[in-house]
Amino acid sequence: MRKELKEKKLIESFRLFLWDWFGEKFSKAFKVIAISCLQFGDTGKGKFIHLLTWLWAHIVARSTGGDNAGHTFYHKGREIVLHLLPCGMPFDNKGVVNIIGSGVAFYPKAAVDEIKMLLSLGLTCDNLKIALNAKLLLPHHILLDRLGEMGAGKEKIGSTGKGIQPCYTDFIARKGLVLNDVLNPEIFRKKLRASMRSVQAMLSNHGPSGKKVVKEIMSHPHLEDGLYYSEDGTLNEEAIIAKYIEYGEYLRKYIFDTDEFLRGKLGKANILLEGAQGYLLSIDHGTYPYVTSSDCSPAGLAKGAGLRETDIDLSFGIIKGFYETRVGCGPFPTEMGGKTSASWCNNGATKEMEDAAYINATVNDQNEIRQGVAIRRKGGEYGATTKRPRRTGWLDLVLLRHALDSGANNIILTKLDILTGVKEIKVCYAYRYEGPDYNYGAKVLKSGEIILKGIMDPEVLDYCVPLYTTFPGWNKSIKKAKYVLDLPDNLVRILKYIFEEADVRAKPRIISVGPGPEETIFVGVNDLRLFSPEKK
Ligand code: GDP
Ligand code: IMO
Ligand code: MG
Repeated sequence: MRKELKEKKLIESFRLFLWDWFGEKFSKAFKVIAISCLQFGDTGKGKFIHLLTWLWAHIVARSTGGDNAGHTFYHKGREIVLHLLPCGMPFDNKGVVNIIGSGVAFYPKAAVDEIKMLLSLGLTCDNLKIALNAKLLLPHHILLDRLGEMGAGKEKIGSTGKGIQPCYTDFIARKGLVLNDVLNPEIFRKKLRASMRSVQAMLSNHGPSGKKVVKEIMSHPHLEDGLYYSEDGTLNEEAIIAKYIEYGEYLRKYIFDTDEFLRGKLGKANILLEGAQGYLLSIDHGTYPYVTSSDCSPAGLAKGAGLRETDIDLSFGIIKGFYETRVGCGPFPTEMGGKTSASWCNNGATKEMEDAAYINATVNDQNEIRQGVAIRRKGGEYGATTKRPRRTGWLDLVLLRHALDSGANNIILTKLDILTGVKEIKVCYAYRYEGPDYNYGAKVLKSGEIILKGIMDPEVLDYCVPLYTTFPGWNKSIKKAKYVLDLPDNLVRILKYIFEEADVRAKPRIISVGPGPEETIFVGVNDLRLFSPEKK
């Protein structure tokens, strides 16, 4: 009974929030909402896709990336992590349609495993629809991704090893396959052979040690424990064909022209676009080449679902409250502990190793690396996909100003509860460039120059020293806060600073103080006054 009351209250406060904000306009005209991340991923997209599906959406679409993502949410108190299926799946039995769009790099095994996992939890998947032209991710994509990373040395990206880059590369090279191909065995066989010709030739030229490495990679459970490996060191095409046709049979009832379906629903149903990764990892807008291979911006989400960017009526952008994380390689100017932290996180450290090595580290440690580890441990910042420690750093407004160019300026702040008890909170408002002279278009960037808006070139970011404003933190738990007025003054002061400094177009709309759906504060229009610049 108490639980039902809580749920009713949450639904009520969301309705009030929308009404307060848009009045009638929302119910009549606002029909497509996008939720994307404005940092390096893992900001809590899963929580908010699940929550907004519960409260609002009829259709949810995942439209970029693949099972490199890891989206976590709590459904009826149970933690669920999805990599490929949209986070609206638990509402399938309420008639919500979940879509995997044409922009997705689709690994059939990952989808089938997740469908089976959801069914085993007593959930349904009856309304799932998967794009017939989703990019088909094949075993050799995973192999090439892992081989590439092993041989990359310093140029390593730190990918998730899920085959994302080679899958999209094949698509761009016009030799990729799409999901619908698995439903037509002869066409599938023909296309697969042609598509794998060069990789098979490369594999057959490997010496014994190269073959051993290939065998090891192909023996991974994610690659069906060696099913696709031939003892001559190449891949067994017949085994791939047979398994993919089997997956095709399992998935047949879900395969659909989702682009057409979604366009037909515009203006008629509430559509939620689920972002994956984050703007700073976008192939088009991120810290290239340290990025993923899809466009994680709202425009990318719309395109990958067969829609246009202008179809999006409301765009939420998520950031972590006053800190951020990055998994894998690439520049991260505000990282606590800088390059030492990066190398620790990227060279095989595990949560267990950190628990042992940093048992006494605290969130107020004077040593930055130890402080970073303590915040990571408190925030549970270990990859939902790869379990790697997420590199942890202070909130970076220079990067945020760049990310706000995406137009996702209705901000959701998550994980504010994690910084409770941190005595001093630092916010980076600018960088000082301290590298060699660097030609940047017509301009020469010189040491000492102040940078206010993120330049996405790692050659620049690697030499940027963050300049911070420091604020006193707060001590009182905020986990039970329901309204902005329940938040400590010191926290509100930082929020106000961020929204004055970052971009006046951006507004805090939702504040998350815990992983559960009810641990959410909707910021009313009147509350916004608290964050507006003071009149002089
Ligand atoms: P995503 O990839 O953006 O969906 O995020 P992940 O699921 O990879 O990581 C976010 C983590 O933070 C998950 O474990 C969530 O359950 C958790 N989370 C989300 N919002 C909050 C919050 O406000 N507070 C806390 N403590 N955890 C949160
Ligand atoms: P969600 O959706 C955080 C990172 C990888 C690597 C780079 C390229 O859960 O926020 P890839 O395997 O895509 O070729 O790896 O991108 N990366 C993510 N980091 N969250 C994610 O997804 C990520 N997906 C990819 O760590 O640095
Ligand atoms: Mg994640």
